[in-house]
Amino acid sequence: MNLSPLQKARYEYVPKLPGMLRNGIADISVKEGAPTQSVADQEKIKALFPNTYGKNEITFVKGANTSAPKKQIVGVILSGGQAPGGHNVVCGLYDALKATNKENVMYGFKKGPSGLLEDDYLIFEDEYIDQYRNTGGFDIIGSGRTKIETPEQFATAAEVCKKHGLTALVIIGGDDSNTNAGVLAEYFAAHGTGTQVIGCPKTIDGDLKNEDIECSFGFDTATKTYSELIGNVERDCNSAKKYWHYIKVMGRSASHVALECALQTQPNICLIGEEVAAKKMSLSAVADYIADSVAARAAKGLNFGVVVVPEGIVEFIPEFSVLISEINELLAGENTAKFNALASWKEKYDFIENGLTKESMAVFALLPEGIQQQLFLERDPHGNVQVSLIESEKLFSALVGKKLEERRAAGTYNGKYSTLHHFFGYEGRCAFPSNFDADYCYALGYNAFMLIQYGFNGYLSKVSNLSKPAEEWVAGGMPITKMMNIERRNGEDKPVIRKALVELDGKPFTYFKENRETWAVETCFTYPGAIQYYGPSEVCNLTTKTLALEKG
Ligand code: FBP
Repeated sequence: MNLSPLQKARYEYVPKLPGMLRNGIADISVKEGAPTQSVADQEKIKALFPNTYGKNEITFVKGANTSAPKKQIVGVILSGGQAPGGHNVVCGLYDALKATNKENVMYGFKKGPSGLLEDDYLIFEDEYIDQYRNTGGFDIIGSGRTKIETPEQFATAAEVCKKHGLTALVIIGGDDSNTNAGVLAEYFAAHGTGTQVIGCPKTIDGDLKNEDIECSFGFDTATKTYSELIGNVERDCNSAKKYWHYIKVMGRSASHVALECALQTQPNICLIGEEVAAKKMSLSAVADYIADSVAARAAKGLNFGVVVVPEGIVEFIPEFSVLISEINELLAGENTAKFNALASWKEKYDFIENGLTKESMAVFALLPEGIQQQLFLERDPHGNVQVSLIESEKLFSALVGKKLEERRAAGTYNGKYSTLHHFFGYEGRCAFPSNFDADYCYALGYNAFMLIQYGFNGYLSKVSNLSKPAEEWVAGGMPITKMMNIERRNGEDKPVIRKALVELDGKPFTYFKENRETWAVETCFTYPGAIQYYGPSEVCNLTTKTLALEKG
């Protein structure tokens, strides 16, 4: 591997641990808190998790280590989409494991949960792990989206753990992967396999968040990376003064990423899916909302601006969701082949017109042809529309264009409207972790080992008080069942960790709402610049605005 100067320098970085984990393994003891209850559906969750429900919250404190000496053989899995800092979770886990006992062993299962099912692994050694310290990516062992969910898969997972004598398994993932970790912990406990399961909260989306988990790792670095890029685009935009830039940012359904980027860069418009849903806004209403800003700026001679669009926006527009489900119905079963056999787009369009309700056809007719075709041509293996592939940045820029032409015809707008489009997603998922993520992730991994060493099962590694300096962070663990409720998934009631959407009465959204009218008309762009790894603390240890507003 050819190393960049920054990568070499980052190898030297020593992640900051929470104060109570800094005195060495021999000086970390457990303080048990109160027993816990799930956030909802307590009786149902309790019945499903008889062995792991209701356990106590715990925190680590300075004091003599009272854990029983035991040789630990720990497996680790990276699950789902990449998030900056994953390598440091693995490093923190490894360092605590080796500091406790040189004879302890750590397995890395490759390419996500499938590595466990297929018994595809490597055994970590110092030399190998040292190449990945403080670096981005998940390439240390790879990641994947396989779920362990069938009885056969649970049995295979137990067999593989038994074969290697695993005393514990650490699953680093988002809400679904940690739900899976909770289910696996219960299965292992019920079958007396002797393997503990610990989860770690990962996802750039920021939607694995609740009263215990202040933020998932990766959100800090990914949003800083996107904000740097958005700020650069804003500065270009303010220099050339001739384009409206539509920027879609990754983040799946929830709009946390878009909101954080807006707080950092102050664009003219940022759509928030949760608000669009709450106000039941139509496509046309959203387009009008943006067109109002374009027109108001044009009236001041400002024919340029920046619009930030969250990845999941279209799912939140009620009439669009109905359209998507009608399309899924329309192309169910043999209809896909019939549709595909039609030779021209004209014939396909007639087929669509005959199949959709009048209301959905009206929405469909509003869309630019490129998006119409995307809805029918790019479908997942189950034949469903791939909502995340819809180029909503282009959709809104075209709809706004139409609105402006109507206004021009009515004599209420007389500006210029040239657009450019961007999608920032994969650019942010494997960036070198910010100091915050490097520290937080290392602490999560180190802490996960302490939970293992003290015999806990079905816990999420928890590090809190994150808006304060690392010295004041609090390390401990929370039973995964505490974060669960029952939700309908694929026609069945399932216990799952509740996904966090943007709260419309929360402080980050409130701050945004108080300022956005000014941002929409004036040019209030803010340029965060690149992530800084060295320099004054107020620059290189900065947390997200979301965290600062929520906890500051
Ligand atoms: P996780 O939920 O697994 O953390 O993944 C997050 C994410 O980056 C989303 O923001 C995005 O929609 C999705 O992964 C993309 O998935 P893929 O990597 O499979 O294209």
